[in-house]
Amino acid sequence: MKGKFIVFEGIDGSGKTTQLKLLGEKLTALGCPVLYTREPGGTRVGELVRELLLNPQHGELVPRAEALLYAAARAQHVEQIILPALKKGTVVLCDRFLDSSLAYQGFGRGLDLSLLEQINRVATAGLVPDQVLLLDFCCDYGVDRISRSGRSADRIEREDREFHRRVRAGYLALAARDPRRYRVIDANRSIARVHCDLIKAVEGVLDALSTGNNRP
Ligand SMILES: Nc1ncnc2c1ncn2[C@@H]1O[C@H](COP(=O)(O)OP(=O)(O)O)[C@@H](O)[C@H]1O
Ligand SMILES: [Mg+2]
Repeated sequence: MKGKFIVFEGIDGSGKTTQLKLLGEKLTALGCPVLYTREPGGTRVGELVRELLLNPQHGELVPRAEALLYAAARAQHVEQIILPALKKGTVVLCDRFLDSSLAYQGFGRGLDLSLLEQINRVATAGLVPDQVLLLDFCCDYGVDRISRSGRSADRIEREDREFHRRVRAGYLALAARDPRRYRVIDANRSIARVHCDLIKAVEGVLDALSTGNNRP
């Protein structure tokens, strides 16, 4: 596969969407073909599943059903959007991927990590990101950023601070397991400072793209 798969992770309000757009603009200016996408969603079917998952009216969803719905949307996304784009040599910038399931359904909801990995082996068909950019952010501010932005909190964002603390700690534990693939970025700073760090964090991956040292 010729492209690069770069994933943005972090709790709600950590700046993923903001930073993904800025990095995409930078890469486009450098002449890189870029695809922006997100999870859950990214496909027509996936966006329907997203609506189901994030709608606060569906409070009765049990953690296993939640995990399977995320995985179903992911399977569709990988096959329909991500793999074809990577084959064409595109840099895929994805707002959340597998680690969100491990952090939220695993560390947040308490589902067994190995069970989630098993479900997601099916969902991802073995696809792993070239780089995961973890925007590490103090949970106490995430909710404030969202409410300042003027939109109402979704079903997951409405979870309490303790839940978001577990998710944040989970993300850091996942990053510590594989420091080569993950870059932990301190997201408690200005948009410009975080962007600068992100550019540095993806340098290696992008160098490989331009020298043709690509995915197997
Ligand atoms: N570094 C930052 N400092 C201050 N505000 C920020 C920063 N990054 C993002 N924001 C603002 O916080 C809100 C949430 O950011 P967003 O990129 O949507 O986060 P996420 O996609 O991780 O939920 C937005 O209104 C955004 O403009
Ligand atoms: Mg976002």
